Amino acid sequence: DQNRLWGGRFSTGPSPELVELSRSTHFDWRLAPYDLAGSRAHARVLHAAGLLTQDEVAALTEGLDELEADVASGAFAARPDDEDVHTALERGLIERLGPELGGRLRAGRSRNDQVATLFRMYLRDHGRQVAQLLRELVLAIKGQAERHLGVAMPGRTHLQHAQPVLLSHHLLAHAWPLVRDLDRLAEWDARVGAESPYGSGALAGTSLGLDPEKVAADLGFTGSAANSIDGTAARDFVAEFAFVTAQIGIDVSRLAEEIILWNTQEFGFVTLSDGYSTGSSIMPQKKNPDIAELARGKSGRLIGNLTGLLATLKALPLAYNRDLQEDKEPVFDSVDTLEVLLPAFTGMIATLAFDTARLQELAPQGFALATDVAEWLVREGVPFRTAHEISGACVQACEERGIELWDLTDQDFAAISPHLTVGVREVLTVAGSLASRDARGGTAPARVTEQLAELRARLA
Ligand code: ARG
Repeated sequence: DQNRLWGGRFSTGPSPELVELSRSTHFDWRLAPYDLAGSRAHARVLHAAGLLTQDEVAALTEGLDELEADVASGAFAARPDDEDVHTALERGLIERLGPELGGRLRAGRSRNDQVATLFRMYLRDHGRQVAQLLRELVLAIKGQAERHLGVAMPGRTHLQHAQPVLLSHHLLAHAWPLVRDLDRLAEWDARVGAESPYGSGALAGTSLGLDPEKVAADLGFTGSAANSIDGTAARDFVAEFAFVTAQIGIDVSRLAEEIILWNTQEFGFVTLSDGYSTGSSIMPQKKNPDIAELARGKSGRLIGNLTGLLATLKALPLAYNRDLQEDKEPVFDSVDTLEVLLPAFTGMIATLAFDTARLQELAPQGFALATDVAEWLVREGVPFRTAHEISGACVQACEERGIELWDLTDQDFAAISPHLTVGVREVLTVAGSLASRDARGGTAPARVTEQLAELRARLA
């Protein structure tokens, strides 16, 4: 006989094609421990409402514990005729306790409020796991920043040399977005944890005197849903999770892209450690940045999971519709993706070797100190508009002769403008340029040290 939670009003069982289409156990099985935790809490609230005796709760709890152990060991698994994880676990309970007792647990709940609750619990657990992995990545970036204090590099806009910056400053610019992602995960967690849908029933709430707040507290929520229709139909918590994971993917991909560039022959800024790079099956010399490329590629997949989910939710009428079963695979994939990507990416970052001499040498090249010349002139009382023109004329003179700004002689400077006295040379060094950017958030060494302390405090 087929195992179904419904059937009373049907004269035949479902067609095999429907069974095939309907089945979700191949992906929702991972919710089993949460379903069992929900069932234990539900048994307790049924008891509180006078619908189960103390002995019955004890027997049910024991049966659920046994079932949980069998799920964990693999002794109990879904059968092809189990529609979903909830159906399979009810079968398992009935197999252990008989239909009389096992069949009592479904009172006052629906798979609709059940799944909405379990999914929140699952995502909260994995959101915390992702946060932990992300934190480790931030620590690896911070470690590199700490190890390279004082090293300058070319700062870029439009991928062109712009102004020298500290390597640590640049690295930390990748850490802060990830810190905001950590904040997003924490805020999301609190929001999701504030509304347990258990007790919403199919959509209208429960008539059996069950206290949703009690179940909520039992399951680690800080509150229960204010509206049972919303409790069963809302999936914005899934979409928000998908967004945060996609944003993490995007933030990681921006660092990944730079590492891919830095690792080219032309840049030559970094060397990847052997353990975190790959070879070619034909070209013996190759050492490829596959982790960074996979990070870049997987960010597309994370975005796809978000957009697919949003498309499923758009215009969906209230309350529960079976479309909502499509909410799980995208975010399960996002979780799985980040849980394997982040540790590898962190390892790659932690073991990156920088060619600091090369970074330092390239830092001022490409007239990256032209802004310093203009700002020096402003400090000498020249209007910025004029200062910009004078500095631009210096660049033009250099370009014509294939030299850098500091190669201009005192006479060259004087010929370009009488304002360009020998004093200008003090800003024509990387150290002078860096030190001058000393307001909060700037790349001056003292400010970057301060920034590191700020980051440490945020992570503490
Ligand atoms: N497996 C379903 C889901 O993930 C829950 C079952 C609700 N089914 C139903 N026919 N109301 O959304």
